[in-house]
Amino acid sequence: MNQSKAINVGLIGCGVVGSGLVESFSENHDKEVSLKKIAVKDAKKPRNISFDNLTNNADEILEDPDIEIVVELIGGYNPAKDYIIKAIKNGKHVVTANKAVISEYGPEIFAEAKKHNVNVGFEGSVAGGIPIINPLLEQLSIGKIKSIAGILNGTTNFILTRMSEGVDYHSALAIAQEKGFAESDSSFDVKGLDAAQKISILASLAFGRWINPSEVYCEGITEITTIDIEYARELGYAVKLLTMARKTKEGEIDIRVHPALISLNHRLSKVNEEMNAIHILGSPFDEYFNVGKGAGRGPTAFSVYYDVIKIAEMIKSGVFREIKINKNHAKIANQDEIVTEGYLRFYLQHVPGALHSVLGVLAKHGWNVKDSLQRGGPKHELNVDGIRCLPVIITHEPLPFGIIKETLHDLISLKTEKGSPVHGKPFYMRINR
Ligand code: HSE
Repeated sequence: MNQSKAINVGLIGCGVVGSGLVESFSENHDKEVSLKKIAVKDAKKPRNISFDNLTNNADEILEDPDIEIVVELIGGYNPAKDYIIKAIKNGKHVVTANKAVISEYGPEIFAEAKKHNVNVGFEGSVAGGIPIINPLLEQLSIGKIKSIAGILNGTTNFILTRMSEGVDYHSALAIAQEKGFAESDSSFDVKGLDAAQKISILASLAFGRWINPSEVYCEGITEITTIDIEYARELGYAVKLLTMARKTKEGEIDIRVHPALISLNHRLSKVNEEMNAIHILGSPFDEYFNVGKGAGRGPTAFSVYYDVIKIAEMIKSGVFREIKINKNHAKIANQDEIVTEGYLRFYLQHVPGALHSVLGVLAKHGWNVKDSLQRGGPKHELNVDGIRCLPVIITHEPLPFGIIKETLHDLISLKTEKGSPVHGKPFYMRINR
């Protein structure tokens, strides 16, 4: 290959991140990469970009022998996956920010890339502008990773930040949507599925065996209320959508996304607004912590552009970076066996004996209560069919999660001669120190 010639790049998809990437190319003329063509759905649509070689036909990129790097930025599973595989089969290196395709088809894509001796970059697929994929593939890979904990969804972090100021859930979600952090289907953010895809990618790289997003235990933030956030703060915690993976003593992977009370002393508790953060523990590096913008035009295009530059350098020096994943699937830990501390909130009928009956259920399941709090007064209580119901908050010493689930089930079905002492569904969050 001619060392002085710029490496040609083809871009498929020119939405928010794609147009940011076009800007990166035009601002960095010194780099030895050149954007040759962009494929979009509608090449005639007016666009605010300084580039005019557009086509409606992705094959003009996938089959162009002068294009060495294909950047896929259309998102979703298909045709994105087909384009990536076709590019690789045609001997092209690939850069993508597509978390759906990488989390679902990573091993197939990496195996195909190995067969064709081409590189795949996907820094933009997780945590936007925070460097994490390349560090995991490079420097961190020579260490031994024990755990990854993070805030990997900007939308939910933004919502929880607003809720901590007293804004209700639905208004906070509407603001996040207006600001453009949320996915087109925001249930993907608030149910934790976006974070599940991201942690499945990070954990697969960290632990060397592939983990599918469907194997990630997942709870969203939809049941959290502003009073939970208020009580949590009184107890010394912030509420965050925690995304984590760790290797258990038995060598299984405990991988999950769920809201959690995080000690105000923990670094993650201080990550607010739409920011993302990643906290890795391992040896011999001990601790790696990084915080930054997890989504959006600038941050994601920055990571995609970095991969383009990096892969261009690898092409020039003839380097192939294999993404090594063991063929055997990871063994996933059973969440019922994970021992945890936690926070329980339920509405209790304000009648004699109601608390006594609830405590009986907790005692039966071996709960050792740590903090307990009940609040009366118009700001806190509910009136259900003329009966006052007061919120009760309980935290407890460590218990297996399976026992906690059984306890919640028993609380819902609890009956006394005065009816059901617990109104509605109790709400539970784990505590992470
Ligand atoms: N909806 C995602 C978030 C965008 O809020 O973090 C980036 O994946």
